[in-house]
Amino acid sequence: MTEELLVADPQERFQNLLKVEKYRQRLSQMAIADTTSLVVDLDDLLTADSELAENILEEPDEQLEHVNQAALAQLQIEEPEYAEKIEKVTVRFKGLPLTTSLRALGSIHIGKLVMVEGIIIRATPARPMVTQAAFRCRRCGNVTFVDQSSPFLSTPVQCSDPACRRKGPFEFLQKESTFIDSQQVRIQETPEDLPPGQLPRWINVRLEGRELVDVARPGDIVSIVGVVRAVAPTYPRKGKLRVFKMHLDANFIDVVSKEPETAIISPEEEEKILELTKDPWIHRKVIQSIAPSIYGYEHIKESIMYLLFGGVPKELPDIKIRGDMNVLLIGDPGTAKSQLLQYVARLAPRGLYTSGRGSTAAGLTAAVLREKGGGGMTLEAGALVLADKGVACIDEIDKMRKEDRVAIHEAMEQHTVSVAKGGIVATLNARTAMLAAANPSLGRYDPYRTVAENISLPVTILSRFDLIFVLRDVPEKEIDSKMTEHILDLHSTGIAPVEPPIPPDLLRKYISYTKKLKPLLSKEALNRLKDFYLKMRSASETEETPIAITARQLESLVRIAEARARVAYRKEILAEDAEAAINIMRRSLEEVGIDLSSDKIDIDILMTGKPKSVRDKLRVILDSIVALEKETGMAERSALLEKLEREYEIIGSEAERLIEQLVREGTIFSPEKGCLKKA
Ligand SMILES: Nc1ncnc2c1ncn2[C@@H]1O[C@H](COP(=O)(O)OP(=O)(O)OP(=O)(O)O)[C@@H](O)[C@H]1O
Ligand SMILES: [Mg+2]
Ligand SMILES: [Zn+2]
Repeated sequence: MTEELLVADPQERFQNLLKVEKYRQRLSQMAIADTTSLVVDLDDLLTADSELAENILEEPDEQLEHVNQAALAQLQIEEPEYAEKIEKVTVRFKGLPLTTSLRALGSIHIGKLVMVEGIIIRATPARPMVTQAAFRCRRCGNVTFVDQSSPFLSTPVQCSDPACRRKGPFEFLQKESTFIDSQQVRIQETPEDLPPGQLPRWINVRLEGRELVDVARPGDIVSIVGVVRAVAPTYPRKGKLRVFKMHLDANFIDVVSKEPETAIISPEEEEKILELTKDPWIHRKVIQSIAPSIYGYEHIKESIMYLLFGGVPKELPDIKIRGDMNVLLIGDPGTAKSQLLQYVARLAPRGLYTSGRGSTAAGLTAAVLREKGGGGMTLEAGALVLADKGVACIDEIDKMRKEDRVAIHEAMEQHTVSVAKGGIVATLNARTAMLAAANPSLGRYDPYRTVAENISLPVTILSRFDLIFVLRDVPEKEIDSKMTEHILDLHSTGIAPVEPPIPPDLLRKYISYTKKLKPLLSKEALNRLKDFYLKMRSASETEETPIAITARQLESLVRIAEARARVAYRKEILAEDAEAAINIMRRSLEEVGIDLSSDKIDIDILMTGKPKSVRDKLRVILDSIVALEKETGMAERSALLEKLEREYEIIGSEAERLIEQLVREGTIFSPEKGCLKKA
């Protein structure tokens, strides 16, 4: 060892490292893999020769030359034939001792070898780049080779034939030139690295060589080792700017796993997590820990709990079924939708909050953009791709871009975003749970219209939500006074009136912890779900309209039940989980105007709004009440029923049910027995 350290020549010193068994093996595998790259763990070099390792980090441009030479020299010993064939080896360093955050990257790093981590938000397609260009002299026919390093193609200064030496003209010879694959990507801070309220930082990265190009796609989280460069942008006739632009010349790229298990959990935290897994009141505690400062909305918080924990994705040999849930909140202005969404985005592992328009040109799904200057095309990832394996909270989803309206269908069910435009063909992952919010298109939710009529989203998108809830801002004395107290309390004391039983940090880790669990349906749970689903199916069969309770609702029920078992950290889905899933589904269906207590189930009203009859009938009833009020000052129930049957052929039992619905909604009330009045 001491002897080795005395060797001054960096090439020899590096070659010493490659003489150990691990690297001899890697060298001999190069031929099999048909690669010119040799991956070296910087850790190994740090242990063997820390001074050399430091030098490489400090002055990579010089040192990498020596290192590559050393690798070639050692390859000549291990695999002389292959060494002769490839002529050049590129050493790629993996695992630097320190990750530099994109936020910290600055002028002190210029020319240094660093490791950064981020999410790929943009990528050009792989493009051939010439490394050595061949030119034929038009005067004498001699071919001159020019090594290329600048962004622009360098032509020969003069013909290389000593007998000619003329300055051209030259003709570029593609066949005789050498090309490598190249690609430019942009990486950005991951949502969880982003300090609250800050715009994410990004940096462009140049990838050169088959081993680096197309290794990662937009949406992937990568760790990149590379040399920091600063280049002055040039302006025609004005020269170069004094402020330089930074980019990274990559030496190595690694796709980082997105699995939530990678979240670091300390022993003390693990203890607390294990305690939670045994807590019999875990469901209540989790619900109470979701946005405790927002009053009420228990059922919505319950749904958010299911969304956070998620169902189990199924990967069958032929098809894939998503495990993540999509929940939509449609609500009047000022009903805390945005607040809820923002809270969930902070709470969820890999949570992201954005508005329907998206915060970038790529919107919610993806876009193909024309690069500035270069004129090439680049693929940019939208919010759902960036939130891959996380939770996307999309506010004002009804205002999304036209292109997203098409692409979101695939994203919500297949969990992919496909792009085929401008020569770019790609499929990106978008395995996200989605919590979306929207305002009613008429300003306020109109209970006499269907969901589809209340919101400017097509039925095809609505049907991809597992649960839809309506948040209405209707005055209700008791709730109002409690809520007023709650809000004023919050404003006067400045502290949350309810402490969350589980602090957000712990809850986030608990969620990650439970994700590895894949609960299975118990016999009882399966039977409950089956019964409920078949009952809904047969009920909707009796309608003249086509069946609208579809397998989608069944899959949703399973997802919810799975999520509930996960919350309690149970491998088995019990009857109580199935029951809870049915209840919340029922609640959601009822909120959007489907009465499951009647024997006729009409989910069509939710989606297509086809049997306009129901809402028409509700209007007729309201109008009749107003008319009777005008005539006699008070609408008598019996008179109303008679009028409805006589004039509109709405028979007694149906009329009773619809009147009940109006009373429940608070649209009409009964000032004294047997009388009705419009509120
Ligand atoms: N149930 C509630 N508990 C506590 N605060 C509430 C509640 N409902 C509304 N608020 C308060 O009302 C304000 C408005 O909420 P927010 O901006 O989230 O509404 P919104 O539903 O997103 O409205 P819009 O549809 O106009 O965007 C917030 O400050 C929120 O805290
Ligand atoms: Mg809002
Ligand atoms: Zn010539």
